[in-house]
Amino acid sequence: MYIIKKVNILRKKITHIKKTNKKIGLIPTMGNLHYGHIKLILSAQKYTDIIIVSIFINPMQFNNSFDLKDYPKTFQEDCMILKKYNVDILFFPNIDDIYSNDIKNHTFVEVPKLSNILEGQSRPGHFRGVTTIVSKLFNLIQPDYSFFGEKDYQQLLIIKTLIKELNYMIKIISIPTVRLKNGLALSSRNNNLSIREIKVAPYLYKIIKKTCKKIITKDNHEIEKVINLSKNLLIKKGFSIDLFNIYDYKTLMTPTKKSKTIILLASAWLGKTRLIDNKKIFFR
Ligand code: PAF
Repeated sequence: MYIIKKVNILRKKITHIKKTNKKIGLIPTMGNLHYGHIKLILSAQKYTDIIIVSIFINPMQFNNSFDLKDYPKTFQEDCMILKKYNVDILFFPNIDDIYSNDIKNHTFVEVPKLSNILEGQSRPGHFRGVTTIVSKLFNLIQPDYSFFGEKDYQQLLIIKTLIKELNYMIKIISIPTVRLKNGLALSSRNNNLSIREIKVAPYLYKIIKKTCKKIITKDNHEIEKVINLSKNLLIKKGFSIDLFNIYDYKTLMTPTKKSKTIILLASAWLGKTRLIDNKKIFFR
């Protein structure tokens, strides 16, 4: 595996690969790799000839400096995983290579409508940071395919919109959320949970599942009641809720009679850790 840190060396490598007509797959990550990332690599192996993983803890997408500081950094372990799964190139730039200007004054890319609702409301500037770094990686690496997890559903939808509206010739492949047996969605942030919190965390998905089951059988006017009951259950378990509601699967707006598929999106704090999860519901 080549480990490339410098943008100019990456560019040379990409120019060389492009001449061979090989298909490039990009998996953008912030490191601290887990089985969810491995699933993305396994999927990339089916679609592409050259797999590039980037590890960059992107300061532009953190609106909380403590969150940025606490983000787990496990470079050696990550490299072992990437080598084991035959990743061809690891792009591991440092901050100055990516943001030559200071971040506040840096050029950005934004998908306005979808970025400032739901998760974007709780974390102002977060999605602008995501779309800026992802665009930069797309420009530098020019992948044919790029792979993202469905756990960050709003992020996935925003990136699909970015691809469409900025005319990137990149196919986005999404991978279902990978879970522990107890239902907890794999996430780098789980490492920050205390022993007590690890036992409580699976309740988020358990309650999401139960809520979805109830929603399918209820009339519209009863749904709000179901959601409020679930929220209270989560609060009793110790979660502090940012978001727990249903949305149209395609637009992330309040579901209408036309919404065939809806999605329950949840984000909640457990102590100092922010967990997110979701479940798709086929409605009518
Ligand atoms: O989902 C993530 O890990 C990050 O938001 C991403 C896509 C790597 C951009 O920094």
